[in-house]
Amino acid sequence: MEPLLRSLLFMPGDSPPKIRKAAQLEVDAIVMDLEDGVAPSQKEVARQSVGEALQTVDFGGRARYVRLNPVDSALFAADLAATLPHKPDGYVLPKAASAESLVQLSDELTQAEDQYGWPHRSIVLLAVIGSALGVMNLAQIAASSSRLIALLFGAEDLASDLGAIRSKQGDEVAYARSALVVAAAAYGLLAIDMVYFALNDPAGLEEECLSGRRFGYAGKMVIHPKQVAIANRIFAPSPAEIAHAERIIQAYQAHQASGVGAFALDGRMVDLPVVRAAERVLQKARASGLA
Ligand code: COA
Ligand code: MG
Repeated sequence: MEPLLRSLLFMPGDSPPKIRKAAQLEVDAIVMDLEDGVAPSQKEVARQSVGEALQTVDFGGRARYVRLNPVDSALFAADLAATLPHKPDGYVLPKAASAESLVQLSDELTQAEDQYGWPHRSIVLLAVIGSALGVMNLAQIAASSSRLIALLFGAEDLASDLGAIRSKQGDEVAYARSALVVAAAAYGLLAIDMVYFALNDPAGLEEECLSGRRFGYAGKMVIHPKQVAIANRIFAPSPAEIAHAERIIQAYQAHQASGVGAFALDGRMVDLPVVRAAERVLQKARASGLA
């Protein structure tokens, strides 16, 4: 079954208090950052504190991920060396632009798994798409590694690469935002939506979560504890959606017993694709502990 990733909370790796705080929150995944959230002078401090946290903090059932610096950066090797022995659940790879960097990282993880005697593919990968080239190469990135579980939409980096101006509506990144979901669905990956930067705008965040869900996103990157509950709620089916899905399944079973394929329910046609969507809603509800 696919993992539940409604909320991925990022925090700078050089902040042990934020890491400890995150381990108390109802987040599905914790992403300890070594990349852009950490000042250049603090990189080594961050590596040490992330390594320490992996060894000492009780994260409960939350996924423990580390965001690395890019594979081709001078920081990458030390990021990996400081964290890999402490076996994070996965690595978030920033600025993925082609399959190569994912293949390289995946090979290094295979070597580590052999060396430490860990099961193969016990460390997963998540790739951030945040460049024009990354969007053009979505299919090869999505197919690059059997460790890959999710594509993350880096809207700000992408907009800057495009020379686009960010708007609240997001028309300027809509093509890429949709293309990412298509690639994820085609290769059996989760699509995780962009960061909402306004920390004190719950209504705006909720709206953007809803729009992400309509696109087909499974969850969202969040950057503050206040954003977690909203993402968890919107990226799980609502009580009304669950009730409606249950009605569709019941009606479908009743009609199927009498040999009918398509039928009408509340003035709308129901056929197999509608039933499959309802099944997905119920599956997600069960995974979220709601049904
Ligand atoms: N993860 C865990 N805890 C966090 C957090 C985060 N991302 N952001 C804030 N908190 C904690 C604070 O430590 C504080 O805890 P306390 O009450 O126990 O002291 C509490 O939540 C309230 O924080 P607040 O004062 O409102 O925020 P701030 O002004 O200290 O920090 C940011 C604001 C934006 C710097 C902070 O939210 C942050 O670091 N976000 C993530 C940044 C990041 O990782 N960027 C790169 C990836 S996009
Ligand atoms: Mg503060």
